[in-house]
Amino acid sequence: MGDVTVDVERLREEVQRKYVEVVEHPEHEFHFHTGRRAARNNGYLDQWLEGLPEEAVASYAGVANPFHWGLPKPGEHVVDVGSGAGLDALIAARAVGPDGHVIGVDMTPEMLEQASAAATAGGIANVEFRQGLAERLPVAKGWADLVISNGVINLVPNKLGAYRQVARALRPGGRVQVADICVERPVPESALRDIDLWTG
Ligand SMILES: C[S@@+](CC[C@H](N)C(=O)[O-])C[C@H]1O[C@@H](n2cnc3c(N)ncnc32)[C@H](O)[C@@H]1O
Repeated sequence: MGDVTVDVERLREEVQRKYVEVVEHPEHEFHFHTGRRAARNNGYLDQWLEGLPEEAVASYAGVANPFHWGLPKPGEHVVDVGSGAGLDALIAARAVGPDGHVIGVDMTPEMLEQASAAATAGGIANVEFRQGLAERLPVAKGWADLVISNGVINLVPNKLGAYRQVARALRPGGRVQVADICVERPVPESALRDIDLWTG
């Protein structure tokens, strides 16, 4: 998308409101699937979830499986854009092992708190969660071997800006594994301005 016509600040507030509810009330019904059932539906293997704190699993809100193309390799550096309650970042952290490192980035403080608490509860030390925007990733240039993201870029109005940040964070030859929602037809201008359609 070239020009961003939606009110970006208001959109971010609404997105935060929606996902804070997922963290605070994972038992509520949402217009998207959440938790262990969603992870299973998306093709996550039981062994990936085994031993992870229930809170991280319960507040999972991914739309598909960024590990469809394979788990990160031992020793790799991974960035999770829009890490939410942390499930994908924790799975990645266990896959990269003690010589690897994972940075989860999210704009919502409640998500970061939940994800950090889950890492501590799970005894997973090679993961950290940083507050930041997909459009301004707080990660050094060329640091990542792999960037993953799950259900986030569809919520970002400046998609090209977000992908430029992914390219900046990656080392030459690094990989991107994005699970997201794509619309294959042009979206009418009126819909682009309708924040309920972005978050709903
Ligand atoms: C659908 S949830 C997905 C969370 C996580 N990836 C998962 O699979 O459970 C979307 C997450 O993206 C975050 N988010 C949305 N827009 C963002 C942006 N522009 N920059 C950073 N985080 C963003 C929200 O705070 C929320 O935690």
